[in-house]
Amino acid sequence: MAQDTAKADIGVYGLGTMGSALALNLADNGFNVAVTNRETSWINDFIKEDTDLAGQLTGHTDLADFIQAIKTPRTILFMIPSGKPMDMMIETVKPLLSEGDTIIDGGNADFNETRRRSAELDGTGLHFVGMGVSGGEDGARHGPSMMVGGTDHSWTQLKPMAEAIAAKFEGTPCVAHVGSDGAGHFVKTVHNGIEYADMQMIAEIYGLLRDQGGQDPVQIGQMFDRWAKGPLSSYLIEISGAALQSVDSKTGKPMVDVILDKAGQKGTGGWTLIEALKLGQSANAIEAAVGARSWSSEKDMRMAAEPLLDKGALNVDLPSEDDLENAMLAGRILGHAQGFRILSAASEEFEWSLDMAQIAEIWRAGCIIRSALLDEFASAFRAELPFDHLILAPVMRIRLAGSILGLRRVVAASVLTGQPVPALSAALAWHDSMALGRGTANMIQSQRDFFGAHGFERLDMDGKHHGDWNDV
Ligand code: 6PG
Repeated sequence: MAQDTAKADIGVYGLGTMGSALALNLADNGFNVAVTNRETSWINDFIKEDTDLAGQLTGHTDLADFIQAIKTPRTILFMIPSGKPMDMMIETVKPLLSEGDTIIDGGNADFNETRRRSAELDGTGLHFVGMGVSGGEDGARHGPSMMVGGTDHSWTQLKPMAEAIAAKFEGTPCVAHVGSDGAGHFVKTVHNGIEYADMQMIAEIYGLLRDQGGQDPVQIGQMFDRWAKGPLSSYLIEISGAALQSVDSKTGKPMVDVILDKAGQKGTGGWTLIEALKLGQSANAIEAAVGARSWSSEKDMRMAAEPLLDKGALNVDLPSEDDLENAMLAGRILGHAQGFRILSAASEEFEWSLDMAQIAEIWRAGCIIRSALLDEFASAFRAELPFDHLILAPVMRIRLAGSILGLRRVVAASVLTGQPVPALSAALAWHDSMALGRGTANMIQSQRDFFGAHGFERLDMDGKHHGDWNDV
């Protein structure tokens, strides 16, 4: 084990994929890092693995030694499974810590738990930070995007290290203290909700071309490669293009063709929806994406249903590549706009004063949803924004005006051919609902008052009213 020659700037507990990568990134940027892990055998292996950085990494098999090796006030990053393990960890380390020390949970945690943990530590002199880290293993190692919650005190300690290891967009670090207590984990949760919607829309376009266009993975992958050079330029489009052109070495078949069509999920997409609903918001494109993953797991039922359910589908021409690209562009704008609406509502509810432009800015590099559009979103939020609504930003109205017909054509063709496009069609339905000054909720109100005397507001008079309903 390496000698503890220097006091560590930070401690990293948890040497799984993300923890190891962040520890190496910190060491690479000149910080001294104390590391430890529940399974102590991992510690030596980890330190031995990177001999160049070994001088800056000190491994500790004993928890008290690990804590002692970190400069005070201490900053300790925990990269462990969320939930109970984090609560147990806090209880274990608490007696070993001193006033001013900060415990950081860098996993994907439920922000409600982060708020609770922050409140529980309030008054103890210890600080708790929920930090969203995006970008997967490669991001963590070479530059993630990070969304930091917690106190100003903790941010002051963490900032120089976080800014050094973060991804940079034109030199600006993609990390920020977005708000107090659970704000960091909340922003990360919504990031993932947007990620789900974007991934689902890409999958829907792939499905339309595969099932209705008879295209092979390479053709579709090459199309995504073309899109990656235009307004859809983004990490998710890039990896989708590359994934579709990858070959399974075991069979020689396209990789995607040997993968079972059942998608996993760890919960952040669902949390986005739960919180949106609690805040009185609806994010139907994100909901569609989460729902589609759940439906995907009903593989046996779908296989049985396919010959039993008559779709009544028609043959229609496939939309042009331009229409498909525009559909993805409009869908992406609408999916993000729904995510930002949730963030606005949460900011108000929890008094976080979230800065939407800043959030868009720290998502421009390092994270999974990084894209060219995020820079446009950031500028849109920095400018005057009617109703604080991304889709009303002048630059986004122009983008939507140029792309919405493509989305309409793609959804129409999919509906007629029986091709499911739940996220794209949800995004369009939301757009059209927002664009309808006089909606249809007057009909809902009439039904509510008819059967339940719930009352309604009138267009021509103030106050609550009841209708003069005919008998049935
Ligand atoms: C990121 C990712 C990352 C991860 C999650 C969600 O920003 O780096 O969002 O946190 O992909 O595990 O993934 P699933 O819910 O799809 O498993």
